[in-house]
Amino acid sequence: MITALVPGSFDPPTYGHLDIIERCAGLFDRVVVAVANNPAKSPLFSAAERVALLEECCTRWDNVSARSFDGLLVEVVRRAGADVIVKGLRAVTDFEYELQLAQMNRRLSGTVTLFVPTSAEYGYLSSSLVKEVVAFGGSVEGLVPPTVARALKERLADER
Ligand code: PNS
Repeated sequence: MITALVPGSFDPPTYGHLDIIERCAGLFDRVVVAVANNPAKSPLFSAAERVALLEECCTRWDNVSARSFDGLLVEVVRRAGADVIVKGLRAVTDFEYELQLAQMNRRLSGTVTLFVPTSAEYGYLSSSLVKEVVAFGGSVEGLVPPTVARALKERLADER
């Protein structure tokens, strides 16, 4: 039984994230999506809201679950009984920072990080860009699931 842990901010989840999760669901026995609860980043959605959005978006994979975590990633890896960390890479610009994180996590706990290239169609996609597009009234159809698009519109309308 091999468990992969897919960590991130997921503020909000996009089709780019779901693309990585889908591939993990096919490759591993169990997939735990771990949402970082980092209030210092002033997320648009609370960690509990991001977990709920992910759970709604991942119902078609019965081996995928989501949870939030505080503190070190290697601690949630240990608590979840995960064997590997999986991160998506959009472009070579992601690689430098991700390599640093991977090497630090390996040093801290011996956990290996595997990188999965994002599908080319989502190579430019980021949660920050999605939030900006919605904030200025643009369409994010095809970039995030409809449930996420609705939550974004509601939250950004509340903030205006
Ligand atoms: O979606 P993101 O912003 O790329 O996710 C980054 C995340 C949350 C995976 C990373 O910042 C993280 O692992 N944070 C937890 C704190 C931690 O373990 N820091 C040391 C890692 S070397």
